[in-house]
Amino acid sequence: MKFFIDTANIAQIREAHDLGILDGVTTNPSLMAKEGIRGEEAINKHYLDICELVDGGDVSAEVISTDLAGMIEEGKKLAAIHPNIVVKIPMTKDGVKALKYFSDNGIKTNCTLVFSAGQAILAAKAGANYVSPFIGRIDDSNWDGVQLIEQIAHIYSLQGFKTEILAASIRSPLHIVKCAEVGADVCTSPLDAILGLLKHPLTDIGLAKFVEDAKKMQEQKAPVK
Ligand code: G3P
Repeated sequence: MKFFIDTANIAQIREAHDLGILDGVTTNPSLMAKEGIRGEEAINKHYLDICELVDGGDVSAEVISTDLAGMIEEGKKLAAIHPNIVVKIPMTKDGVKALKYFSDNGIKTNCTLVFSAGQAILAAKAGANYVSPFIGRIDDSNWDGVQLIEQIAHIYSLQGFKTEILAASIRSPLHIVKCAEVGADVCTSPLDAILGLLKHPLTDIGLAKFVEDAKKMQEQKAPVK
């Protein structure tokens, strides 16, 4: 399973990249706005900075238009920023048409705002490279987000769809583990959830004991021969 980070924050992207486990980045208009990025020039520069930082990993950049012509125009401009840009398109009727257009024209896409298996089938039929089910938001609405990932993975494998399942709206380290368990191809997570995977109290207790014993070992005199 590939690890993407779900943020537009450069410091957080750098921290995940420095861990050596980062395969890509996803952003959305809310995450970009949170970083105070305003205006087309600043937006494009920010995407370019992210692409250069992750160096080779896919970077999802979302269109803001909701009509087909606008999505196509914007998507082409986004794709021209850097070869690793993946155009993120919402799951709507015009979005499906845009996915098909980009797929026919060799531009990579990520179909976002996916909440059902039916939507995931349409995204795959339209040739999306990635499909992004929002599992945290599904959990928030009293349904099971991980179960949806499992269902889509089952359908895609049965039908031979090549679209990669990119589990999004991840809220915890456990979400990441569960997504890995049910066959997600990619998990895009906030930095906290990724770093949360590191934590276990027995690791901390065990390490403290090793460090203490190592000190004793260094203090001991060498045995008399
Ligand atoms: O990138 C889209 C998705 O990950 C949003 O997550 O936490 O706003 O539901 P969240």
